[in-house]
Amino acid sequence: MNADNRTEQHTAVVGLQWGDEGKGKVVDLLTARHDVIVRYNGGANAGHTVMVGEERYALHLIPSGILYSDKVCVIANGVVVDPQVLIEEIDSLRARGVEVADNLRISDRAHVVMPYHKEHDAALESVLSNRVGGESEDLSIGTTRRGIGPAYADKVHRSTAIRMGDLLDVNRLHRHLRVICAIRSAELAALGVTAPPLDPDDLASRYSALGQRLATHITDTVYLLHDYLSEGRSILFEGANACLLDIDHGTYPYVTSSNCSTLGIPAGTGLPGSWIRRVVGTMKAYSTRVGAGPFPTEQDNETGLRIRDRGNEYGTTTGRPRRCGWLDLVAVRYSAMICGVTGLACMLLDVLSGFDELRLCTHYRRADGSVTDRFVPDAEGLSRMTPVYETLPGWSQEIDDASDRSALPANARRYLDRIEEVVGVPVEIVSVGPERTQTLVEV
Ligand code: GDP
Ligand code: IMO
Ligand code: MG
Repeated sequence: MNADNRTEQHTAVVGLQWGDEGKGKVVDLLTARHDVIVRYNGGANAGHTVMVGEERYALHLIPSGILYSDKVCVIANGVVVDPQVLIEEIDSLRARGVEVADNLRISDRAHVVMPYHKEHDAALESVLSNRVGGESEDLSIGTTRRGIGPAYADKVHRSTAIRMGDLLDVNRLHRHLRVICAIRSAELAALGVTAPPLDPDDLASRYSALGQRLATHITDTVYLLHDYLSEGRSILFEGANACLLDIDHGTYPYVTSSNCSTLGIPAGTGLPGSWIRRVVGTMKAYSTRVGAGPFPTEQDNETGLRIRDRGNEYGTTTGRPRRCGWLDLVAVRYSAMICGVTGLACMLLDVLSGFDELRLCTHYRRADGSVTDRFVPDAEGLSRMTPVYETLPGWSQEIDDASDRSALPANARRYLDRIEEVVGVPVEIVSVGPERTQTLVEV
């Protein structure tokens, strides 16, 4: 296929806030129109919920497209894979009648999350939150403790990394783990972990067994994806985490450890970004955040509690209550710019029913009183910004059974219109409930 044939058939779904925008639901919706669904970043820190009738699926590593038996799902090289979690996920899907066989392909170059990564993640978070050395500041990130940061750190360290393909050669794995275990045991002890030193024999045998269980899925996904492109198959990229958690473009250091904006797609899959013409930026009709870090529109009050209650805002992966607040359009406009968003999916609009008034943040006020419409992708700088709000009238009726956008109350339509105006991108999908049917699609 030459460059002129690059149609809009390949689509990326990406979160524009701090995660949990409803990407799983949007991917599920768009899967019907694509052949191959690809995860390109993150790991088991993600929790993507898909509702199929009464059935609720929470996916962490496997692309949400797995619920369609005729699609291929790919865990590409940019993902960090916890083989234990992956096997549990495969087993639990199979137990519910979902086919997981040749339809799941895993990159031999995806890096492995080992048990010591999770221990390191948890130990470092504890040290940082325990105000080490008499410091009064809590410096923890509020990670999911899934070992994501330490696994990506090993990827960058190179010499201490393990990739999925390495699990298939037990002798090499064993040799490698002898050195790694010595280094990691010393590091864990320095972080205050009192467990016995890591045992390379035990780890090598357990992780090579996990590798054997996954062996038929492990392959070179870069050539595989290019072969799919040559065959004219359409690809759907499933972003995990979200743009404001991007390691380079998010609210650093309160971010995750991968490029979770669409900028992570080329490196995380081996496919040039020029293939992707359609980017669905997924956003909530309000804002949430899990873990630490600045959140200018946070409502640590009755409003926030009401949003949490109506939106059932508790983490899919960790169960932590999510921090809730008004919609921050400065942030969404920034993410749409970074991700090259061509259309918005505005999720959980139903949660806002019943408010007399709704507030939309369109600008930030700096400490010197000046106003800007630019986001500040740095935690320290963002924490000094005060939101400038517009107030729009709310709507009283429930909207969860609306069948199309024109059936929404006038004030709900006005709210969506204002989002489009400020972000400068059309709203293509409106979601008014978790079910597949509770979706108003414009295009
Ligand atoms: P993801 O990480 O972006 O895939 O999002 P999560 O699955 O972590 O969180 C989104 C939550 O909102 C899930 O529990 C979904 O079932 C739910 N959800 C998605 N869309 C809607 C909606 O329009 N209305 C309501 N009330 N819930 C929704
Ligand atoms: P999905 O794909 C919400 C947040 C964590 C923490 C920070 C770093 O479901 O939208 P990490 O464990 O990645 O080192 O934690 O990033 N975080 C998420 N928050 N949804 C996610 O994924 C997240 N993935 C990471 O809460 O603040
Ligand atoms: Mg989630």
